Amino acid sequence: MDPSLIKVVNQLQEAFSTVGVQNLIDLPQITVVGSQSSGKSSVLENIVGRDFLPRGTGIVTRRPLVLQLINRPSSETPKDEDANSSSKEGANENNNSEWGEFLHLPGQKIYDFERIRSEIVRETEEKTGKNVGISSVPIYLRIYSPHVLTLTLVDLPGLTKVPVGDQPRDIEKQIREMVLKYMSKNNAIILAVNAANTDLANSDGLKLAREVDPEGLRTIGVLTKVDLMDKGTDVVDILAGRIIPLRLGYVPVINRGQKDIEGKKSIRLALDAEREFFENHPSYSTKAQYCGTPFLARKLNMILMHHIRNTLPEIKVRINAALTKYQAELQSLGDSLVGDSSSIVLNLITDFCNEFRTVLDGNSEDLSITEL
Ligand code: GDP
Ligand code: NA
Ligand code: MG
Repeated sequence: MDPSLIKVVNQLQEAFSTVGVQNLIDLPQITVVGSQSSGKSSVLENIVGRDFLPRGTGIVTRRPLVLQLINRPSSETPKDEDANSSSKEGANENNNSEWGEFLHLPGQKIYDFERIRSEIVRETEEKTGKNVGISSVPIYLRIYSPHVLTLTLVDLPGLTKVPVGDQPRDIEKQIREMVLKYMSKNNAIILAVNAANTDLANSDGLKLAREVDPEGLRTIGVLTKVDLMDKGTDVVDILAGRIIPLRLGYVPVINRGQKDIEGKKSIRLALDAEREFFENHPSYSTKAQYCGTPFLARKLNMILMHHIRNTLPEIKVRINAALTKYQAELQSLGDSLVGDSSSIVLNLITDFCNEFRTVLDGNSEDLSITEL
């Protein structure tokens, strides 16, 4: 996530919590949809920037994972005893500033992201067995970190047609209903994931996305596995909107392959390789800035910014209500400082809104690139 967006949203939340307005912005849920093994979990993991999701060939994600990212400034670092396990990623200066907590393991802070992953696997098997069964009972995981936006991502099982192992006869219908439940939420941003080495016209993800978002207002097409396309083929026509146009467009990405996962290739190295691929490929070199995971993240940030901008009028109403209440409370206490203290808060908010507007305006130029 873009650090400047994280900063703005934090300041906004902080300023408003001083006037008693909590949970100021209900940020959209980012939900993935696509066929099994199209790369959904890989894409989500890259957006978060940490390794912690089970990924692999076959049906690996077998229960919905509702992942709540919670921004928490690093200054409040806890001094817990189980903070001894360090992450191999090494991307974060302070290993104690990021941890996960599962709803089913209340009070347990897990600092080792490898352990978060194995707990997801364990808890999946707990409800579904080892023989590729599925369950619609979600796993709830919270990740606390100074590097994330407070927002929810949902990882879902892939769409599949033929039951295997312990899967129910009507697995197609069951997964479809599970996925639709999360995608239909009005504030869901849908990442319709399709492997670039499969035909877009057959994309289950896009078909389902169109059902809940026919105008394509909240669907982003994500093309994975561009590295696995046959020589001489590319996704240029899709990007240009000549195949199945999407208002928010498509972003081609390259995630880590199965070998990279087995070799524990880091996200950072994978991102370097991704950039190099697009910059040096004859089909993409001239539009490399519109390709890859960082661009997808920027696009998401931009959508979040717009969401916040659209929410501003409602936010103002809530602030006014909070201020009125606050003033009435002070008055009932007979506080002679009423005028002063409320104007301090008002000034704070006004300053803040001005600053926020600058950031928003600074971001609006990015809009044009969605019309690639
Ligand atoms: P999901 O089932 O849709 O969640 O897909 P996963 O994220 O689990 O990925 C399925 C498999 O495809 C894994 O072995 C990944 O390593 C591999 N994979 C995903 N994206 C890419 C990609 O962009 N390139 C390559 N080469 N492999 C990928
Ligand atoms: Na998979
Ligand atoms: Mg998955």
